[in-house]
Amino acid sequence: MRKQVKNNVSWVGYIDWELETFHGDDYSILNGSSQNAYLVEEEKTVLIDTVWTPHRFDFVENLKKEIDLKKIDYIIANHGECDHSGALTALMAEIPETPIYCTAQAVKSIEGQYGKRGWNFNVVKTGDTLEIGNGKKLVFVEMKMLHWPDSMATYMTGDNILFSNDAFGQHFAVEELFNDKANQCLLYKEAIKYYTNILNPFSPLVAKKLVEIEGMNLQFDIIAPSHGAIWRDNPLQIVKKYAEWANAYQENQITVIYDTMWEGTTKIAHRIAEEIHKQSPDTVVKVFSISKADKNEIMTEVFKSKAIALGSPTVSNSILSSVAGWLEFAKQLKFKNKRAAAFGCYGWSGESVKILQERLRDAGFEVIDENIRSLWNPEESDLAAVPALVEKLV
Ligand code: FEO
Repeated sequence: MRKQVKNNVSWVGYIDWELETFHGDDYSILNGSSQNAYLVEEEKTVLIDTVWTPHRFDFVENLKKEIDLKKIDYIIANHGECDHSGALTALMAEIPETPIYCTAQAVKSIEGQYGKRGWNFNVVKTGDTLEIGNGKKLVFVEMKMLHWPDSMATYMTGDNILFSNDAFGQHFAVEELFNDKANQCLLYKEAIKYYTNILNPFSPLVAKKLVEIEGMNLQFDIIAPSHGAIWRDNPLQIVKKYAEWANAYQENQITVIYDTMWEGTTKIAHRIAEEIHKQSPDTVVKVFSISKADKNEIMTEVFKSKAIALGSPTVSNSILSSVAGWLEFAKQLKFKNKRAAAFGCYGWSGESVKILQERLRDAGFEVIDENIRSLWNPEESDLAAVPALVEKLV
């Protein structure tokens, strides 16, 4: 069922209440999501993006109830990833001649995924425009590496709507569609989680792109991303947030993260957390067990932190595999401007702290020398080093 966005622009996407994970199992979905597609009905009829592959037949059937598919003059594919291009095969089976406007990289991505089917691609670059009648046009803006090489945004003049694709999105199901109707805590929780886990590796490009878009002197009445709520109430609020998030973001928070075998490393984690609060009562302290907490939620808390403490016991001359995997993910996310300390228990060889320090450094953290390395269970004599470690972190 279509939902009006503004004037002749409608939402025709899919609200994915059941979705539990995204990018395989690499991104947890806790509050549903959506794949937003848009129908523009001016003198020309334009479809902007589609939905994820499993929903392709429903998408086409629903679209048929709204419009004669043959009336679609142009399809805009802002991004080739299958959560937005996944219905193209079903749609193009019905209207094979309809031109698809996208970047050169998107042609490669779409043909790479679905094969060369002879579709009528029209390659566009930043600044290219497409007249859609009634005095309105679409302006294309390449969004390279935000977050794929093919990513693009489309701006509609007249109604001043930026169809931003993944940028400014959230994995968040909002039946009411708009940001002012959404639960504000969840909206921002999901927006920052999305930024952390999808866009943070590309923060330097985000910062540059925001400056470039600002230089285009466009007015934004609505920012319509391809996931989650549409920003119609003060849409620039999310642009301002992105400008903050893209600039080595941190809050007055320290996050303690660990895994444990027999709870010795847990005891150190909790003592560090207590000491942070004691030394700096205004600092927000959060503690997560890597094997019990959601990794994307932990990463979001790391993104908000000025420092972290990471713990693992020594196992087979190394660290727990859960912590090793976590470190690999942290490295991918390219956090900036964050200090880190290492801690852990051991029974005999005791390499974990040194390995944690090396891998934290490799992941881009500023690692402090102070550490807690405790033989068997931590005694008060081991924990006596906690205040000095915390002093460096706060
Ligand atoms: Fe929402 Fe990059 O796909």
